[in-house]
Amino acid sequence: MDNYYNLREFQCATKAKHGVGALASLPDSLRELGVKKPLIVTDPGVVGAGLLDRVTKVLEDASIPYGVFDQVVPNPYVSTVGDASKQYEKEGCDGLIGLGGGSSMDTAKGVGVEATHEGDVLYWEAAKRDLERRIAPLITIPTTAGTGSEITVWAVITDPDRKFKFNVGGPLMSPHIAIVDPELHMTMPPHVTAGTGMDALCHAIECYTCHFSQPHTDAVALLAIEYCGKYLRRAVGNGQDMEARYYMAMAAHLAGISYGTESAGAVHALTQTLGGIKPEIHHGPAVGATLGAFMEYNWIGRPQKFRRVAEALGVETTGLSDREACLLGAQAVYDLAEDTGIPSLAELGVKEDDIPKLAKEAYGDPQTPGNPRDIDIQGYEWMYKRCLGCL
Ligand SMILES: [Fe+2]
Repeated sequence: MDNYYNLREFQCATKAKHGVGALASLPDSLRELGVKKPLIVTDPGVVGAGLLDRVTKVLEDASIPYGVFDQVVPNPYVSTVGDASKQYEKEGCDGLIGLGGGSSMDTAKGVGVEATHEGDVLYWEAAKRDLERRIAPLITIPTTAGTGSEITVWAVITDPDRKFKFNVGGPLMSPHIAIVDPELHMTMPPHVTAGTGMDALCHAIECYTCHFSQPHTDAVALLAIEYCGKYLRRAVGNGQDMEARYYMAMAAHLAGISYGTESAGAVHALTQTLGGIKPEIHHGPAVGATLGAFMEYNWIGRPQKFRRVAEALGVETTGLSDREACLLGAQAVYDLAEDTGIPSLAELGVKEDDIPKLAKEAYGDPQTPGNPRDIDIQGYEWMYKRCLGCL
């Protein structure tokens, strides 16, 4: 049920600049923040796609000096953030540009924490303590339409010692400015468009249905779900479809706003712990492979909301029972995953023997309390078995 008996808060401290060609606003954005020399935090894929060059050209044309850290890895480690922080200090930078997907933007957020706090990101794990001050000035520029990290208040970092992905952040983690330019998304290959798009859809569905949902986040989540239903196939099928790219970028962005400051639900509990144990499995495909089972399991927790999800995905529900409508909503997600080429969990490398450990870890994840249906380890085992075709 909605959590309206308690005092709730919503805030979004990030200025969003969006539209085709929005990248051109980067120099003005740096001036707004008083940043003289930013460190660009990015990854080799972004460099290879020529996107770093597009950003550095804008800076050079405006005579703005910059540093570059381009060694971000998927599921970035505490040490990835530490290496970038060393470069930030060495280059005498006073602000950050997080350029890329979630891993690059999250690494930049982590550097922003370390630049303004004593101790590393591991010390500031959200489950242990709250941040004490706003992070260093940060401009986020997503090159995928998925994580919404350009506007979320969280970074997901991997602790290799615990084989665990932990969250760091909270309201003080808000990026200062997010620049969302769909022109930077045109080179994304179909499988990346698909995986990241399913991640955006999942953020919206989980946040709309979870125990921490509230009207502010419900409003944006529903539109994000609708955009994913309308535009994800087109963006995967034709990477040059600017309309589809823009609305998928905004779907991810709105879904990021819906993430709020609390936890989501079982898919992110499951995929975050899976990514910690099997770091070779990327987040987007894992989410896309498990979202349908999440809906099948969870709809009885909040039938009216799962019915609205089905409607936002284009399911005609007139005259249908809640059960019929909600399960058609789950089917719509399975169809979307299939049409966009999302691999199955088995194809991603999960085996039946892995289930007991993976389910136990997922249950212990901090995202679990938000799940719309009461869930225990057996519930996670059901979802894993469903995804592996054992049920
Ligand atoms: Fe996600």
